[in-house]
Amino acid sequence: MLLRDRYRIREAIAEGGMGRTYLAEDLERFCEPCVIKEFLAGRTGPKERELFAREAAVLYQIDHPQIPRFRGHFEEGGRLFLVQEYIDGVTLRELLQERQTRDQVFPESEVVELLLQILPVLGYLHRQNILHRDVSPENLMVRSRDRLPMLIDFGASKEVLALATENLAPEGHGITATVVGKFGYAPPEQLQTGQAFPNSDLYALAVTAVELLTGQNPAALYNARELRWEWHDAAAVSPVLANILDRMLARQPGQRYRSAEEVLTEFVAWKSVRQQPKTVVATVAKTVAAPPYPLCPPPPNPPGTGGPGNGSRCRWCLWPPGAGIGCLRAPRPHTAAPAPRRPP
Ligand SMILES: Nc1ncnc2c1ncn2[C@@H]1O[C@H](COP(=O)(O)OP(=O)(O)OP(=O)(O)O)[C@@H](O)[C@H]1O
Ligand SMILES: [Mg+2]
Repeated sequence: MLLRDRYRIREAIAEGGMGRTYLAEDLERFCEPCVIKEFLAGRTGPKERELFAREAAVLYQIDHPQIPRFRGHFEEGGRLFLVQEYIDGVTLRELLQERQTRDQVFPESEVVELLLQILPVLGYLHRQNILHRDVSPENLMVRSRDRLPMLIDFGASKEVLALATENLAPEGHGITATVVGKFGYAPPEQLQTGQAFPNSDLYALAVTAVELLTGQNPAALYNARELRWEWHDAAAVSPVLANILDRMLARQPGQRYRSAEEVLTEFVAWKSVRQQPKTVVATVAKTVAAPPYPLCPPPPNPPGTGGPGNGSRCRWCLWPPGAGIGCLRAPRPHTAAPAPRRPP
């Protein structure tokens, strides 16, 4: 099959709830391999199309060596497609499964290296006001060329869906009510209300790390009666790493690290991290030095005036400001709310 007279589909490589992923070659780039994701096959009304284009514009802005480059988006025959760079590598899910066939899991040193290499990527995204919302072993690939972890599956579709549902939410109630993310990996706030923060991605990353360390499905390590993770007995890890992961896994967002940079700062204080390869240490140092994103600003509206930002909640992200977590929606530097647009 040839799309746009340019992309030759070689094979379908995955089929998810939101669409299908194909391996293709780009005839205009000397048959360079690329990945094409088809979005929401068969459910593409004008609204979805508009949201899809808006989301594609966000994805174009992402420019990080550990995130596949977005090459374009197009519509053909009423179907919506996203084109991205092909990563020659394997997912962490595949790597874990392969080890498990040999009765092995990931040792602590490898998991620490993975965290040190992927936290800067999350830090980068969060500083761009983008949340991944679906960090899991399926969505992290290790690139063959340099063994670097790559974050994939930005789920334009997921973000688009989120926007679509937000549009359906009652006026003035800006909470994104879509449930996005995987059960077991996504934190409670994301699954219950659809609301997510930078540290929601940190939670999912910690679940991924625990799964790699234990080889066990997250559901088996979560005590649903006590609402807490019980994984220490299933993995041989040092108390420092266990503490860091536990804080990333805190049930309440306010109890977690606020940002990827904060987790990295904790790692840097741990001497075994300084023994990591020089390139890893350098990236970590650079990320830790990046300015943190802002906390929720105090709500400017006087209490009791109703609506978002009514004195008890951040007017941007609707989270209680005292929670002390990074606010993804607030403009920066923090200023008053944007003035309403006047008609020309
Ligand atoms: N850029 C890429 N390069 C190489 N392989 C990829 C790339 N993107 C995805 N894949 C492969 O395809 C699989 C599915 O892709 P992806 O995670 O993007 O979609 P999905 O999980 O099926 O979709 P969704 O959750 O959006 O419905 C991945 O697990 C990976 O094996
Ligand atoms: Mg995926």
